[in-house]
Amino acid sequence: MFVSESPTEAASYAMHFLKLASIFFAFGAASAQTLTGQYSCTPAGEYTLCQNLWGESAGTGSQTSTLNSASGNTVSWSTTWNWSNGPNNVKSYANVQSTTALGVQLAHIGSAPTTWSWSYASQSSGIRADVSYDIWFGAASSGEPASTASSYEIMIWLSGLGGIQPVGSQIASGLQIAGYSWNLWSGPNTNWEVYSFVSANGNINDFNVDLNDFFIYLTEHEGVSSSQYVQAIQTGTEPFEGSAELVTSSYSVAINQGTPSTSITSTGSTTSTGSTGGSTGCTAPQYAQCGGIGFTGCTTCASGTTCKVSNSYYSQCL
Ligand SMILES: *[C@@H]1O[C@H](CO)[C@@H](O)[C@H](O)[C@H]1NC(C)=O
Repeated sequence: MFVSESPTEAASYAMHFLKLASIFFAFGAASAQTLTGQYSCTPAGEYTLCQNLWGESAGTGSQTSTLNSASGNTVSWSTTWNWSNGPNNVKSYANVQSTTALGVQLAHIGSAPTTWSWSYASQSSGIRADVSYDIWFGAASSGEPASTASSYEIMIWLSGLGGIQPVGSQIASGLQIAGYSWNLWSGPNTNWEVYSFVSANGNINDFNVDLNDFFIYLTEHEGVSSSQYVQAIQTGTEPFEGSAELVTSSYSVAINQGTPSTSITSTGSTTSTGSTGGSTGCTAPQYAQCGGIGFTGCTTCASGTTCKVSNSYYSQCL
C-alpha cells in the first residue's frame, strides 16, 4: 500500500493491524476450509459452499473446493477439478448457495442484484464445463433444490466450453436480457421444468446484473406464474471432462422486495384490460387489439366484448 504523505502513527498502526487481520483471515480460511468429500459443505458468510460431486461415479478423477474469504454478502472461493471418462456426463456442481436470497414470490421481487467475477486460473486443453447459476422456483415458499418441491430450474450459463448443451432443446436465440445476448433452452427434468439461458457471446467473466430481468422474461414469455417462489439461488460449475482451476474472486446476490422496474404482464388465458400500456378514454371494436407490450391504442373494448390476452404482445377484444 502506498500513500503520498506519510501516515500518522495512529493511521499507520490501524493499517498494520488491518493488514495482519486480513492475512490471518485469508490464511485461516484457506487452510481450514478446503473441501474434499463428495458432499462436504462449509458455511461461507451468507452462503454455503458445497462440493456436490453428485456425478463422480460416471467418470474417474477428483475435485476439491476452497473457501478463500467471506465478508458480509460477498464470497470468494475456488474449485480444482480433474475428470476423465464419461465425457457427456456432468461430474459435479461445486457451488455457493445463498442463505438469504430466497423465499420471495416472483411478484414481490423488486430487484435481485448479483455480481460474479470469475476466471480459469488454469485449464487443460479442450475442457468441457459450464459456469452457471442454478436457480430453483417452487409453489411453496421453501424447498430443497432438485426436490419434489421444485417446479422450475433456471440456469444462466456465463460459460459453456467444449460443445456441451443444456437440458432439452433450444427454443429462442439472441434474446437481449440484462445487457447480454442469450440463447434459451428448455426441457423437462424429473418433476420440474428447466430453462437455461446460455451466453450467445462466449464467456462473461464480470457479470453485474439484475436477475429479476430473467425472472420477468420467464413470467412474460414462458408462462411461469409470478406466484412461484425463489427457493434457492446457487452459482458454480458443472465439469464434464478435463482439468481446471476455477476462481471466483468475488460473488454476491440479494433479493430486494418491492415493485419490479419492468411491469410483469399476465400470460395465459386470464382476462386483462391491457395493463401493459395503451390509452383509456377510447373504445376498441370487436376483434381489435386492446393490449400487449408496446401497444399504444385503445384498451377499453366495445360493450359486449372483453379484452383477452393471447400472449404478452397481443390482447384482443372478443
Ligand atoms: C489429471 O489426472 C490425470 C490422470 O490421473 C493425470 O495424468 C494428470 O496429470 C492430471 N492433471 C492435472 C492437471 O492434475
